[in-house]
Amino acid sequence: MEKDEKLMEKITSLCKRRGFIYPGSEIYGGLAGTFDYGPLGVALKNNIKTLWWKKFVDGRVDMYGVDAAILMNSAVWQASGHVDTFTEALVECGKCHKRFREDHLKEKGKCDECGGDTGLSRKFNGMFKTQIGAVEDSSSTVYLRPETAQGMFVNFKNIIDSFHPKLPFGMAQIGKAFRNEITPRDFIFRVREFEQMEIEYFIKDEDWEKYFEYWKDEMLAWMEGMGIDMNKVHELEVEKEDLAHYSKRTIDFEFDFPFGLKELYGLAYRTDFDLKSHNLIYQDEETSSKIVPHVIEPTFGVDRTVLALMLSAYTEDNGGIETRPYLAFKPSVAPVVCAVSPLLKNKPELRDYAHILYRTLKDEFGRVMWDDNGNIGKRYRRQDEIGTPWCIVVDFDTLTDDTVTIRDRDTGVQERIKKVDIIDYIKERMN
Ligand code: GAP
Repeated sequence: MEKDEKLMEKITSLCKRRGFIYPGSEIYGGLAGTFDYGPLGVALKNNIKTLWWKKFVDGRVDMYGVDAAILMNSAVWQASGHVDTFTEALVECGKCHKRFREDHLKEKGKCDECGGDTGLSRKFNGMFKTQIGAVEDSSSTVYLRPETAQGMFVNFKNIIDSFHPKLPFGMAQIGKAFRNEITPRDFIFRVREFEQMEIEYFIKDEDWEKYFEYWKDEMLAWMEGMGIDMNKVHELEVEKEDLAHYSKRTIDFEFDFPFGLKELYGLAYRTDFDLKSHNLIYQDEETSSKIVPHVIEPTFGVDRTVLALMLSAYTEDNGGIETRPYLAFKPSVAPVVCAVSPLLKNKPELRDYAHILYRTLKDEFGRVMWDDNGNIGKRYRRQDEIGTPWCIVVDFDTLTDDTVTIRDRDTGVQERIKKVDIIDYIKERMN
């Protein structure tokens, strides 16, 4: 079993072919920086988001979930500093007129495409602008949020008034974010519309180092728990001059993508920058003292999680006559938990039995697939490729003794078990 260099091509093609991820607006020639998730991609993303919510919101006593509107009053983005500072240096090639982010150029001052001179850079704001209402003037300008974080800060007072939390406590949100990336690239790594899972954790300023370390460990535990290849995860201490305008310290968790070591997640100490900017305070109900809490922000991109998981899970088994590619997803993450098949498609007695079993398992696990296309070997290969941990087959013995075969994706080994034991068998192995 080995991993190889053409991994990105293989993953991109597998995603399209098997219904994980399609290029956005494809039948109209596409739209750069956008992708559409198909049934398996949605299932994978939903599993990621559900597991994240379970761990960081439902599994804790100090976290408050919100789902804020994407469109916000523009004053939010003025106060947060995004209108003035959410910018990148943009350069344009004098020869072919292609545009690039200056810091993405392979050679400073030279066009990546034709080698022409790129000249001086200018500032480019990464927020998408749109208009609200029928009249187009500056008072109707709104932005699509470039981070979900501000949707939490603006609800800080609401949470305090409704729930009276004591410090430290956190707010959490999962939702879409939009950035007008100059050069979207590397499949779903850098896109213009993506999803974030973010936490704003409010603390007393003197505790920031303690909670920074705490959230670093929590983030590492999350990655490991999801099945991200930890040998490919590296911590990068972001240099002072590269810090975002709100941050005093940031660590990027970089992943060893086939196109380079790049940011997967981030952990930032946002100080009291945001709450101060929005004129928000916290009053201790017992002592009546007023403070502006400081913030530790663990941030996770959903799409980059999908990519890192795909890359971590992709395996080629070269032990047989043909290479057998499979996605070694953990069962809790896999888009399909198990597939059910009749051994032969054209035998009604096998089909009927298998179909009842399929419905029973679907009621239990939801993510169950019916597969009776092609011969059994082809079905196994198809399920391996999409990372289904177990394939269950109904054959002629099933009709006499109510047993089925259950095949393990990673080893290819089949066991014969009783139909009544299937649910427990899967539950015991669900991690
Ligand atoms: N609230 C802090 C914040 O937004 P960020 O590092 O700019 O910080 C957070 O973004 C995460 O969002 C990144 O670690 C990454 O996972 C994801 N992300 C950012 N830009 C992205 C893009 N263009 N395409 C896909 N994911 C992106």
